[in-house]
Amino acid sequence: SGAVSSLQQVIRPSTYGEDEYADVDWDNLGFGITPADYMYINQSTKDGEFHQGQLSRYGALELSPAAGVLNYGQGLYEGTKAYRKEDGRLLVFRPDQNALRMKMGADRICMPCPSVDQFVDAVKQVALANKRWVKQTPPPGKGTMYIRPLLMGSGPIMGLAPAPEYTFLIYCSPVGNYFKLGLLQEGFAPLNLYVEDEFHRATRGGAGGVKSITNYAPVLKAIARAKGNGYSDVLYLDSVHKRYLEEVSSCNIFVLKGRVISTPAAIGTILQGVTRKSIIEIASDQGYQVEERAVAVDELAEADEVFCTGTAVGVASVASITYQGKRLEYKVGAETVAQQLYSILEGIKSGAIEDKKGWVVEI
Ligand code: COI
Repeated sequence: SGAVSSLQQVIRPSTYGEDEYADVDWDNLGFGITPADYMYINQSTKDGEFHQGQLSRYGALELSPAAGVLNYGQGLYEGTKAYRKEDGRLLVFRPDQNALRMKMGADRICMPCPSVDQFVDAVKQVALANKRWVKQTPPPGKGTMYIRPLLMGSGPIMGLAPAPEYTFLIYCSPVGNYFKLGLLQEGFAPLNLYVEDEFHRATRGGAGGVKSITNYAPVLKAIARAKGNGYSDVLYLDSVHKRYLEEVSSCNIFVLKGRVISTPAAIGTILQGVTRKSIIEIASDQGYQVEERAVAVDELAEADEVFCTGTAVGVASVASITYQGKRLEYKVGAETVAQQLYSILEGIKSGAIEDKKGWVVEI
């Protein structure tokens, strides 16, 4: 097909050189959309089965106005990142975990889903097709390409029911830090969080535990209010007791006290982050006691460090948390546990540290 032949023009591994990188200003890139050349699309059959997908040029979709996703929010998204190894090959972090999470989410909102193999294969295809958008640029975190899979009810439906047809697609964009630092500063900006006790992100029995697109628009108002008051993002509390930490709009949260690292248990209201899961494992390997449990907001007063994790966010230290008018401050910077864990994670993702866990997929 046309898509495949134009793909072959892009992938020339033997002649691939510095001059063939996409023209990206990596130093000034935030977490914005800079579309890479190709996207992957797989449209289900009328029976909701996924067969062969294909690569095509990045571009607009044609969608029925009655599509399930547009009217009733039947959609999921995922996120992973590609890194460039020293030898020029691409590394993608744990795409099987994204595939499994998409399967869970698809079940929750009544969608058929590509298999784990189909998902991982599609990620590999689209990453390779967009290889020139991934660059080996120290420090870690720069030069990476965000990979965004979507699964949606694309068929038309009038009554409230699962859509008759589905589309699985993946697009990519080179990205910088989610929370961008000022000019000439390196690393992640420490976050200043605002604890929200009016708006909630999710409730027990809802869809907060899956990556449904419907979890994101409802937090925009809380984010806008917090940003308007100078905060980086919002920390949500549980909707029943308004007492236990849940997560931040864009990432999971961890609290460190001595050698104990606590993080809210994933009981259906928080996103089961791939970075969350990986940091739990890395921190345990490093000898920290990691507890997944209910973490009360009062514990923030006693913490040594607080940090956030996510694919987009990485591992970001929290400088302050404001709750009911009181501002609590935490240790940030190069000597933090957060920074130590982040360095290990980034090392594995970028190929600088040997991956003994089978997390990284090399393409
Ligand atoms: C990610 O970290 O990949 C996410 O999906 C969070 C999003 C708000 C960018």
